[in-house]
Amino acid sequence: MKKSASATLIVAVCMAAVWTAAFLAPHVEARDGNDDRSFDKAISKNAKDLFSRGRETFRFDTFGDEHFWGDTLKLHQAIEGARFGGVGGGISPATALGLGLKVDVDALPATLVDAIRAGAVDLNDPANTLALLRLNAVLGIVPIGTNATGGMQSMGVTCALCHSNVDNSFAPGIGHRLDGWANRDLNVGAIIAAAPDLSVVAALLLVDQATVRAVATRNSSSTASRFVPTARPRRRSSRRHSASPA
Ligand code: HEC
Repeated sequence: MKKSASATLIVAVCMAAVWTAAFLAPHVEARDGNDDRSFDKAISKNAKDLFSRGRETFRFDTFGDEHFWGDTLKLHQAIEGARFGGVGGGISPATALGLGLKVDVDALPATLVDAIRAGAVDLNDPANTLALLRLNAVLGIVPIGTNATGGMQSMGVTCALCHSNVDNSFAPGIGHRLDGWANRDLNVGAIIAAAPDLSVVAALLLVDQATVRAVATRNSSSTASRFVPTARPRRRSSRRHSASPA
């Protein structure tokens, strides 16, 4: 190619580029304006996404602690009872509520809500505790797997066990979730004492399992303040009370 011809070509290309840029510029600006709005939308959508994913984590993620509560302490076996492959008589819904566990009414199908209201559900039958667990209706308790007799293979707990409550709108201990409200009714000691195998805890504390159970249930007869550590100044715990939800 001759020099003059290539110079002309370069000039032509440059002019085309400038022309195109000038022609596109207003459009680019207009699109930028739209981009700001759609960026805002993207940001709020992302915030909502993160929030609901965080809520799922808070309510349902065990972080693998079924290896402790289920696999090691075998707490699921005490809950389901011998009839469902566990041990003992099992823990009925009434007993579970008595231990301070909470039930999410929104997780129950309408037919079940009606049946409970009509008194047609036996709240003294551990089979119904299993049914509630399968519905993810017991706050903070996650059943894992199914054994040959319809019981659980394991179970884990989530943040919601201790950091959620319900509004008791249906019955005491049964209602809509209140995430972030401390569950001050929860009888953690009695729940742990119900676990069939506390050998790992006993070994750690250099005592026997009977001692662990005795200490864990020591204050079970008193109600309101049973989980407020006695060594803690009252001032602090009442501040926390008034600050709820946490
Ligand atoms: C077995 C019950 C239990 C479970 C499960 C539990 N917590 Fe807690 N958490 C507590 C207790 C009790 C306290 C208060 C400790 C204190 O005041 O000394 C606490 C305190 C906290 C605090 C500090 C609150 C404050 O006001 O200082 C945060 C944050 C927290 N927990 C987050 C979590 C998260 C996140 C999870 C789940 C991954 C979780 N907890 C699971 C019992 C529990």
